[in-house]
Amino acid sequence: MPQRRADPHLEASTNRWMVGGVVLMALLVLAFPAYRLYEPGARAATRDAHQASLVEQGGRLFEIQCTGCHGLQGRGGSAPALNSQQFLTGASDAQISSLIAVGIPGSPMAAYSLDHGGPLTSEQIESLAVFLRSLEADAPDNPDWRTPQP
Ligand code: HEC
Repeated sequence: MPQRRADPHLEASTNRWMVGGVVLMALLVLAFPAYRLYEPGARAATRDAHQASLVEQGGRLFEIQCTGCHGLQGRGGSAPALNSQQFLTGASDAQISSLIAVGIPGSPMAAYSLDHGGPLTSEQIESLAVFLRSLEADAPDNPDWRTPQP
């Protein structure tokens, strides 16, 4: 049986494909560590953006629904100063949300969640809690935070 003669065109094209495959594989192998470096940063950025939008939404709601009693930026009024260290360090996020949702029976502090007959969704209440928490960084020391202010 005569040897088949190698086809130089076929050989060249096979070689090109092989080199292409190796290059592609190398790119994929390099892409993984690059992705792993990049990905947590992207996730943190998304989380920060979400947090910032909650703070903004909560701030707008607070201005509409709460400043009448609690003062601008929660600085206090007829109702307690919610921007105080005393309130913010004493209450967990869950407690703040629940105070807003359920209200304080027997006081002017109404229930705000739809479940309790109020006007706000649970996401809106969460945004209010996140907004109040965002005030903690600059919260003034205010031992009289519960005392109504004129
Ligand atoms: C009509 C007045 C009024 C409005 C409007 C109002 N609050 Fe209040 N809120 C009060 C009063 C008064 C208290 C204190 C009640 C008490 O302790 O007896 C209070 C208490 C609170 C507390 C608990 C503070 C503590 O004593 O630990 C939180 C949190 C709070 N309000 C959040 C809000 C938020 C958020 C809004 C807007 C959605 C809001 N309030 C709207 C009057 C008001």
